[in-house]
Amino acid sequence: MLCSVGSNLQISIAAGCRNSPRYADFCPALAGRKDVNTMNYLNKKTVEDIDVAGKKVLVRCDFNVPFDGEGNISDPKRIDEALKTIRYLVDHKAKVILCSHLGRPKGEFNMKYSLAPVAAYLSKALGFEVKMASDVVGESAQSIAASLQDGEVELIENVRFHKEEEKNDPEFAKKLASLAEIYVNDAFGTAHRAHASTAGVADYLPAVCGYLIQKEITVMGGALSDPKRPFVAILGGAKVSDKIGVITNLLDKVDTLIIGGGMAYTFMKALGYSTGTSICELDKVELAKDIMAQAKAKNVNFLIPEDTVVGKEYKPDTEFKTVDSDQIEDNWMGLDVGPKTREKFAKALEGAGTVVWNGSMGVSEWENFAAGTISVAKAVAESGAISIIGGGDSAAAVEKLGCADSMTHISTGGGASLEFLEGKVLPGIACLNDKD
Ligand code: 3PG
Repeated sequence: MLCSVGSNLQISIAAGCRNSPRYADFCPALAGRKDVNTMNYLNKKTVEDIDVAGKKVLVRCDFNVPFDGEGNISDPKRIDEALKTIRYLVDHKAKVILCSHLGRPKGEFNMKYSLAPVAAYLSKALGFEVKMASDVVGESAQSIAASLQDGEVELIENVRFHKEEEKNDPEFAKKLASLAEIYVNDAFGTAHRAHASTAGVADYLPAVCGYLIQKEITVMGGALSDPKRPFVAILGGAKVSDKIGVITNLLDKVDTLIIGGGMAYTFMKALGYSTGTSICELDKVELAKDIMAQAKAKNVNFLIPEDTVVGKEYKPDTEFKTVDSDQIEDNWMGLDVGPKTREKFAKALEGAGTVVWNGSMGVSEWENFAAGTISVAKAVAESGAISIIGGGDSAAAVEKLGCADSMTHISTGGGASLEFLEGKVLPGIACLNDKD
């Protein structure tokens, strides 16, 4: 666990980064720009561009939140991030119909994946009852929607209780759309899915984005199209194959690319090092060579770990030691970056203008192998850079370390933020109406 090490870090990180730019500081300068990403996402209409008073508004949120063993929501960040749009619609007298998926119930009704706990959380947060429907497009959802008064809120059941949702079935999308008069997509975490509730429904209703999607695309799009330099990207996680698209897209944009985590061993192999029993994608070694050659040609400062914390086995309490990265012996596996590397990475982050970080540096959920990820979190927080944390492991690390408030932006999307950084079209945003 990170906790014991992390709790020591909390105070120093919080004290050291009062100067981190906040979203609100630079967002106005980016708003209205049309050169962001291939789809001109910032030109999409928002809730403020449409009259919602007295209208039924279907809002797609990403309420796919984690639960503890006792059925309690263990991290409500995604719900909290959706509140701004919901409150705006309530204050502007819309009749609000919320929808989301939760988990992967495979097209069947299953109470384990019911959104009822989310309705309870929302009712508390909003201070009035959110009316929970017992179905998605059936009698319950329809009759509650029909009787909503201005400013009232309904939550329909998990859209993935219908197999038509993930198939983006037009008839199902039409049924969903028939509940409302306007569609708002605010589910950034699911914007990379072309499902009925994330994209299909936009064929039948005026379609705009909410504040969460607007924030995600403003910050990440701004970083990609006109970053404050030096621009440093830190990529970790297990596999090169998961991040090829991101690496390739970022190589054209960054000044420094830092590689850590499991995928670093494929690059070490490409340099001719023996990597012992470390995770290594042998079929990606040539690709790793090519990426390093491209980085050189593009003048990108490309950093991989100089030293490595190796363990005997893939276990939290396994025997471990630190070795230079070209000295990993047979029967040892790399599980974290070593102290020389932590220092080198921290140095590369000093004075950065923009930092994008996705993926942990080692097996950060195990205390003995968390130091690399903790050190990067601390260095990013203290850099004063516009700092953007992709969802998943890196987001969890900064939350756990208590330095989330020191980051400019922590994306609510895992797969979606990765695809955005790859420069891919996100169907849930592409389907929305343009301002012009
Ligand atoms: C996520 O948690 O990344 C989103 O909610 C998307 O979920 P999915 O991978 O099940 O589509």
